[in-house]
Amino acid sequence: MFFSIALQVAASEARQGHRSAAEELRAEVEKARAGKARGASVPIAFGAPRGNLEGLLELREPRLKLKDVVLDPTLVKRVSDVVRQQRRRDWLREHGKKPSRRLLFVGPPGSGKTMSAEAVAGELGLPLYVIRLEQLISRFMGDTAVKLRLVFDESAKRRGVYLFDEFDAVGAHRTATNDVAEMRRVLNSFLQFMEEDASTDSVIICATNHPRMLDRALLRRYDQVLEFASPTKEQVKEILLRNMKPMKTPRLAWAKILSAAAELSQAELVGAADDAVKNAILDERNFISSEDILTRLDERHRMRNAFLDAAKL
Ligand SMILES: Nc1ncnc2c1ncn2[C@@H]1O[C@H](COP(=O)(O)OP(=O)(O)OP(=O)(O)O)[C@@H](O)[C@H]1O
Ligand SMILES: [Mg+2]
Repeated sequence: MFFSIALQVAASEARQGHRSAAEELRAEVEKARAGKARGASVPIAFGAPRGNLEGLLELREPRLKLKDVVLDPTLVKRVSDVVRQQRRRDWLREHGKKPSRRLLFVGPPGSGKTMSAEAVAGELGLPLYVIRLEQLISRFMGDTAVKLRLVFDESAKRRGVYLFDEFDAVGAHRTATNDVAEMRRVLNSFLQFMEEDASTDSVIICATNHPRMLDRALLRRYDQVLEFASPTKEQVKEILLRNMKPMKTPRLAWAKILSAAAELSQAELVGAADDAVKNAILDERNFISSEDILTRLDERHRMRNAFLDAAKL
């Protein structure tokens, strides 16, 4: 209460043009708040969903930060903006503004959408609740909207990052396997729930591979739509190098490696690097050669092709 009033005073000073007084007051409040938060930083288990919510939400304790995700700098900037708005949401409120909290992550498989959602939770020190829609819909056929209501009610009560993963299931105009009327109902509920104000400022993130399948009415509901992409050459190098640690990597033939890595996703690159590291460990080596990593990248291509061929059958 005291902090909140102090912030109101600061905001009022700022409006009167007393910027330095406002700034000083605000900085003190934030310092005091941060200090208090630190005092309580013994690991407290985040509330795991119980009762009605069991099986709807999966709790994950975020272990990642934004710096762990290799992303385009402009994307990092946009995600950081949201984090900043969330961190200083009280200050925004004093000025009659609301922090961004509804995000849509769009991009190919394995490009870091789920990982970034975890990083947002990690940066904010919030629990990450994952909702698998596909599962929700098939399990509670006919009852999905009711279950969604429970999830949104929870998000209004308990501040956290709520990730609707594999969001295509709801966003799709219609799907072949599911009842069209049910999907419409779910979509309409979702639209309505997204409009509701949540005093907790929980962050709602939806992740999908297929933006084209999303309903236009839905797109308007998001504060930010963030596009993830296949890795650039620079990012390929960065991801491989990070994931080949702690092995030494003397004089790698990058030109060859980059061309062998073409078309692989970030997740596949991590897999290739990881295999190379494990192999080196078992060989009792402390380095990875160009040959090693090239073999592993080639394997990933084969795995992908086998999968694509199987999907065609
Ligand atoms: N941008 C990235 N930087 C670093 N590692 C990444 C990145 N993207 C993916 N990875 C690696 O791949 C794994 C899977 O990524 P993630 O689950 O975030 O992909 P996704 O975009 O959610 O894919 P999907 O659409 O299949 O759900 C991560 O755990 C991480 O190891
Ligand atoms: Mg994902």
